[in-house]
Amino acid sequence: MADTATGGSGTSLEQQLDQMLEIERFEPSPAFKRDALLSDPAIYEQAAADPQAWWSRQAESLDWFERWETVLDDSDPPFYKWFTGGKLNVSHNCLDRHVEAGRGDRVAYHWHGEEGEVRDVTYADLLRDVQRFANALKDLGVRQGDVVGIYLPMIPEVVVAMLACARIGAPHNVVFGGFSAESVKERMEFSEAKVLVTVDGARRKGKTAPIKATVDEHMGDLETLKTIVVVRHAGIADVPMADGRDVWYDEVCAAAAPDCPAEPLDAEHPLFILYTSGSTASPKGILHTTGGYLTGVAATHRYVFDLKPESDVYWCAADVGWITGHSYIVYGPLANGATSVMWEGAPDYPHRGIWWEVVEKTRATILYAAPTAIRTFIKWGHELPERHDLSSLRLLGSVGEPINPKAWLWYHQVIGGGRCPIVDTWWQTETGAIMITPLPGITETKPGSATTPFPGIRAEVVSEADGRPVESGQGLLVLTQPWPSMLRTLYREPERFVETYFSRLGKETYVVGDAARTDRDGYFWIIGRIDDVVNVSGHRLSTAEVESAIVAHEKVAEAAVIGQSDEQTGQAIAAFVTLQGDIEGSDELVAEIGGVVAERIGKFARPKRIIWADDLPKTRSGKIMRRLLRDIAEGRALGDVTTLRDPSVMAALESQIQEAQ
Ligand code: WTA
Repeated sequence: MADTATGGSGTSLEQQLDQMLEIERFEPSPAFKRDALLSDPAIYEQAAADPQAWWSRQAESLDWFERWETVLDDSDPPFYKWFTGGKLNVSHNCLDRHVEAGRGDRVAYHWHGEEGEVRDVTYADLLRDVQRFANALKDLGVRQGDVVGIYLPMIPEVVVAMLACARIGAPHNVVFGGFSAESVKERMEFSEAKVLVTVDGARRKGKTAPIKATVDEHMGDLETLKTIVVVRHAGIADVPMADGRDVWYDEVCAAAAPDCPAEPLDAEHPLFILYTSGSTASPKGILHTTGGYLTGVAATHRYVFDLKPESDVYWCAADVGWITGHSYIVYGPLANGATSVMWEGAPDYPHRGIWWEVVEKTRATILYAAPTAIRTFIKWGHELPERHDLSSLRLLGSVGEPINPKAWLWYHQVIGGGRCPIVDTWWQTETGAIMITPLPGITETKPGSATTPFPGIRAEVVSEADGRPVESGQGLLVLTQPWPSMLRTLYREPERFVETYFSRLGKETYVVGDAARTDRDGYFWIIGRIDDVVNVSGHRLSTAEVESAIVAHEKVAEAAVIGQSDEQTGQAIAAFVTLQGDIEGSDELVAEIGGVVAERIGKFARPKRIIWADDLPKTRSGKIMRRLLRDIAEGRALGDVTTLRDPSVMAALESQIQEAQ
């Protein structure tokens, strides 16, 4: 396969990719088309003609204890309900029905640990462990509707914990392992979690972080949090365990009864809350429910990845703590009976070729990754993947941020050997499932475009001024028709839900928060966020959240954070910081401010660049003009400064930046 990438003809890879940029489209190969689950474009018209019929066909592929009465209840927009009257259980759909159909021995996860350990977890193993832990949760007093927090690394127990919650109807609230203990506390407090499931320690690149001890330092007295369950994973000695509050996972499981029937739950029963960043400092608790969510993730996972559960080995290289992990490591793949790879570690540990070693060893057929990872691999050189046999791969996916055409082509050639279709999938925590994407056996792809809405989804690009569709040029991306896996509300903040997504263009138009354009073929090209959300390596952060962490430092008077374009991470955090009195900026202060951000949010949110500023550009009403800060940070000519209260601020900032360089 390396031949196509390095070019036996003497041209360099770089030259080849440049030539390929000229090719506008990539058609699925006849062989791929022949074997694809979907290959007839008529599916789009069929779904568009009757979206509810299309979605109910998708829902029928799940097991329902009671069939729904109404497909879509749209009597109170934007509070839509799907499959009302229906009863089902997500964990039954992900586990029991596969085991009952004789597929219990199928591997659900080939787990690969950082130190080379391999653990194969079958569907029967998961069902056994989930029932025990579900009973253990019940023994701890968890009842239907109680929230359970989960703060775990990429280990099979995270899946067990999520499914155990789903089994008894306790919504989970997973916090990404990269978030700080302080963030965990905040999220447990907001959601009034009764139990938190965490770990003794997490391993990262050969080091071990004492997670439980750190959680303890920050958790304080949360009245609602009754129990902390601790999974033994990193072999930490002397884990602090508070009497009457903390219990070991293995011990409560061993003490629990083995059988726990899956609870029949309403289609609209809350499945989980996942906090994500919005325009303000306080994170939004995105609420997803049972029937619609599972329908959406199962259908998209099956058709976007053309999943053949008997033969595919599917690897989504995200973290379970983000929506990509929820939908495409846990719920979609398990609902479809897939065999997945689960990878604990970082892409460069123990070496930079580890992903390709894992692909080769597991004979992975589908890889779903983020553009930031692909750009990193490009930097490390095509020689590393070329040392491995990647011929098992047949389909590649991308998610989380726009993928630039060159990275797309590199992925296609070097990783996909020129034979694998690429699905660039656009979606969000809020949408629950993939919304705009190619269907690999149908769509001609264009590098850099997420192409067209999934069947049953309606998207448009509309003008910011009047909400009318934009013929050419950019505008606001909107979804103009409800879909089953849409968020139902913001947890405990229904007004904020309406205000954030449905106030701009009416209650029936979901405003995504991204700018996009469409081309003459109706393909969508996502440009990026229009609100104060920054996307660093596919991690979603709000500028306000980072600002409020920075100003917590006693020497800081004011801070303005922007997302600056970055070749590696898509966007990087740049912070303009004004210090108190006549304190001078220094390297120590940069480190201290980074430390505060790491403590309050997580290491991944630390600013890449801090720019000391005597003053910040503000409008007469006192609003910071981030657009100007972006111009200045990215070295562009300044836009209009006449609306500033004090236009001389910009000249001062420019000279400060030049001095620093
Ligand atoms: C961005 C991640 C371009 C977008 C699943 C969106 C993308 C935000 C793509 C949601 C893509 C995600 N092309 N941009 N294929 N996928 N985005 O909630 O700005 O973490 O609004 O969900 O990521 O981020 P979230």
